[in-house]
Amino acid sequence: MPRMASLALARWVLLAAMAARLAGADDPYRYFTWIVTYGPINPLGAIQQGILINGQFPGPRIDCVTNDNLIVNVVNNLDEPFLITWNGIKQRKNSWQDGVAGTNCPIPPGANYTYKFQAKDQIGTFTYFPSVALHRAAGGFGALNVYQRPAIPVPYPPPAGDFTLLVGDWYLAGHDQLRQTLDSGAPLPFPDALLINGMPSATLVGDQGRTYLLRVSNVGMKTSINFRVQGHSLKLAEVEGTHPVQNVYDSLDVHVGQSVAFLVTLDQPPMDYAMVASTRFNPADISPLTAVGTLHYSSATSMAPDPLPAGPPEQESEWSMNQARSFRWNLTASAARPNPQGSFHYGTIQTSRTLVLASSAAVVAGQRRYAVNGVSFVVPDTPLKLLDNYNIANVIEWDSVPERPDGGAPRPGTPVVRLNLHEFVEVVFQNTENEMQSWHLDGYDFWVVGYGDNGQWTENERLNYNLVDAQARHTVQVYPNGWSAILVSLDNQGMWNLRSANWDRQYLGQQLYLRVWTAEQSFSNEYSIPTNAILCGRAAGLPH
Ligand SMILES: *[C@@H]1O[C@H](CO)[C@@H](O)[C@H](O)[C@H]1NC(C)=O
Ligand SMILES: *[C@@H]1O[C@H](CO)[C@@H](O)[C@H](O)[C@H]1NC(C)=O
Repeated sequence: MPRMASLALARWVLLAAMAARLAGADDPYRYFTWIVTYGPINPLGAIQQGILINGQFPGPRIDCVTNDNLIVNVVNNLDEPFLITWNGIKQRKNSWQDGVAGTNCPIPPGANYTYKFQAKDQIGTFTYFPSVALHRAAGGFGALNVYQRPAIPVPYPPPAGDFTLLVGDWYLAGHDQLRQTLDSGAPLPFPDALLINGMPSATLVGDQGRTYLLRVSNVGMKTSINFRVQGHSLKLAEVEGTHPVQNVYDSLDVHVGQSVAFLVTLDQPPMDYAMVASTRFNPADISPLTAVGTLHYSSATSMAPDPLPAGPPEQESEWSMNQARSFRWNLTASAARPNPQGSFHYGTIQTSRTLVLASSAAVVAGQRRYAVNGVSFVVPDTPLKLLDNYNIANVIEWDSVPERPDGGAPRPGTPVVRLNLHEFVEVVFQNTENEMQSWHLDGYDFWVVGYGDNGQWTENERLNYNLVDAQARHTVQVYPNGWSAILVSLDNQGMWNLRSANWDRQYLGQQLYLRVWTAEQSFSNEYSIPTNAILCGRAAGLPH
């Protein structure tokens, strides 16, 4: 073949391959129909009203493979608008499917919406949960595990099995009652229990001598947990879709909205061992809640005699912070990366700006709420993504959150921070209260370069940042009266929710949105509005 023709052919093949990739056409489709209803559950022995998906509490687990197309038709048979978000799924170029109040109209009672998305270039342990109206307190959450494609190795030998554990605090009160509590200006009470997969206990069965992968996600409302297995060590294997250095731990802290996966080798005499989750950073006068499960060796005939494994020291940030700092990104591991375009030397990239976001309890318009740099987020009548798409003016307050706390009087608002596609940004979360918090960013992983418990962050803290192998993740804890610093590469265009993962705080305004954008309009940057998008509020009746 003449050289020119072969070049032209090569270019054509490349373009065709790119077009197919864009559409995800060569990746398999998985279809789900989820019927959302109220239904009786009794995790604590008393009947309560739960939110069920296809009759299940927790909801069905999705097991899929990297880049699968997930088509999930959610039918809302509740008497209230409902929405699901996919925690940690990056929705590349596709904030249309993120399922939060700023991107999607809630599904009205009796209606349905079909989410269509890919877990693009991601491998790991994720969750989904209801994102509006405190529904999450009643259920509707579940696990979403993304497995590697056969050709892509993960940096550990295939485990003999894997177990998915959704751990979370739980209230006997229903979500409507908890909502009334928050709306009336009272704080949520201390939770009534800790649940594992919707029960006070769980049993895992394995064979002596084999190694299993345990995936633990904190799906609770507001409480950090610690997880441990009697007589066994936990070898960290995955943190929210990235592969860390495989350190070995006696126990692991998992904060609200976070996930970890670790390997446990059944290398002890064949017995039943206690598997304990307990609440962390409890109020000083309240003893921790625990959920005790069992790791059962298939050949076991007796219980391990030792006392239950003790948790780490209470009320101390130090222990937990040291553990967090020991989480390191494995620079040589293959498989999915936080940034497939490849900024592995993230520590050498110049940041384009710094946001210092201080959260605080505040009285706003006579009501007890939470604010970020003085602005308490009020959910608008129309999702921000639709307002932006249709250029509907006078609702979004562009850039109205100060980039650093300025001491202004707390006020309600609907702020969106405008950022340019491909900016590289430093964000500092400043905790001004004596309560453990976590923050989550949709659409991204970020590098957690520093933690502190020393009050106010200052620029001097940068000297101690980990600029080499910091852990990448989507949700970061912020210690009481401390701070956490992240670096994020804004390579995913869209409207993205930056929020407290503590659900009472999120509900009362501790959130905002980032709009990552470029003037160059292209499907290779962002998909256009889905033809089935529900249009509500000021966007009702507009053409798709
Ligand atoms: C609702 O479900 C039907 C199928 O039962 C589907 O054709 C339709 O597209 C869904 N609606 C939305 C808004 O996704
Ligand atoms: C990092 O990943 C590589 C490649 O899979 C693996 O061989 C190595 O053991 C890992 N390193 C650590 C310290 O976990």
